[in-house]
Amino acid sequence: MVNIGVIGLGRVVREFHIPSLLRIKEVKIKGICARTKTKEKLSLASDIGANFYQDYEEMFARENLKAVYVCSPTIFHKEMTITALKRGYHVFCEKPIAMNVDEAKAMCNKARQSSRILFNGYNRRFSPTYQKVKKFSQQKRINIFLLEKIRGEFVNMDKAAYNGIIEKEIKLLGSEIMEFGVHFVDLAKWICGKVTKTYFSSNKISGVPACAGNGIAVFEHKEGQKSIMYFTLAGGKSSERSVAIADDSTCQTFGGMFGKSQVIITKGDRVEKFQSSDDTLVAGGFLQESRCFIDSVSGKKRPPYEPEDTIDTLRLSLEWAESYKVAQES
Ligand SMILES: NC(=O)c1ccc[n+]([C@@H]2O[C@H](COP(=O)([O-])OP(=O)(O)OC[C@H]3O[C@@H](n4cnc5c(N)ncnc54)[C@H](OP(=O)(O)O)[C@@H]3O)[C@@H](O)[C@H]2O)c1
Repeated sequence: MVNIGVIGLGRVVREFHIPSLLRIKEVKIKGICARTKTKEKLSLASDIGANFYQDYEEMFARENLKAVYVCSPTIFHKEMTITALKRGYHVFCEKPIAMNVDEAKAMCNKARQSSRILFNGYNRRFSPTYQKVKKFSQQKRINIFLLEKIRGEFVNMDKAAYNGIIEKEIKLLGSEIMEFGVHFVDLAKWICGKVTKTYFSSNKISGVPACAGNGIAVFEHKEGQKSIMYFTLAGGKSSERSVAIADDSTCQTFGGMFGKSQVIITKGDRVEKFQSSDDTLVAGGFLQESRCFIDSVSGKKRPPYEPEDTIDTLRLSLEWAESYKVAQES
């Protein structure tokens, strides 16, 4: 049995990580931890047979754990991850791994010294939709255009409320855009290969409603290949999160990552269609991601990336976030 402790009970944990872990038969969630105690959190703990803690070090001291999920705001990732690694636990740490490259290096060094796995939460790599896109792009050796719609819930939000959220994010996550920027960079690297340069291009996207936070992320790869990510922070519902692929500057195809949507990939006269899973945990890659982490911890397979790869992703994401910020200010 792989005994797990979970730190942080935000949405990603309640809706994705805990339900995924509960579906893996060799996992037992022994403890869950958040800053504040509420009836809902106590009842979640009791429903899944775990103990609730407000202090993660107390959880470490009382529970016999093999691995820890660090899913607190990014500002706490370094301290919690290093404390867990010192105790000999394997760590699944949500993305972004840390606030800056020095923190990420310290975490990766500690993982290497203690011969423990430090996994970083890039769930999109495990999504069947993105896996199709990757396979297709490798077969055809074409440039990839991806479109991500994120944060649909912000569409009708008034500006003051939106700014309040952004302010909180800058404090806890380091940057407004890092929350998503790391996913973009990781996808570009994973689908198209090593990224050498990254920059924000424009916030005028043809065919996408203009709103704050629209943009085009550009990634340069080895041999001068470019991949482009269209993104909108406030357009459409989250469930419409889409991926598109094309061989010129016009997006030809769209499909949802979540929900019961059909994905259509077109290249010349070749058309590929497939149904994305209506099982959200599978469609979003969360179940496969946790399965992969548990298999790595149990020694059944190697983790899909080295810790140094994570440092590189963070460095590129910070670089990209900076160019986004400069573009917004000018
Ligand atoms: N992979 C993905 O697609 C994805 C999606 C969303 C978020 N994330 C990442 O997940 C992390 C958390 O994001 P979130 O949106 O879930 O944040 P959130 O909603 O703010 O939740 C954070 C949780 O951490 C707990 N916490 C904060 N400080 C703590 C401490 N010192 N000790 C113990 N618990 C503490 C909070 O406790 P209280 O409940 O008491 O406040 C809360 O439960 C971030 O790094 C984010 O980037 C990843």
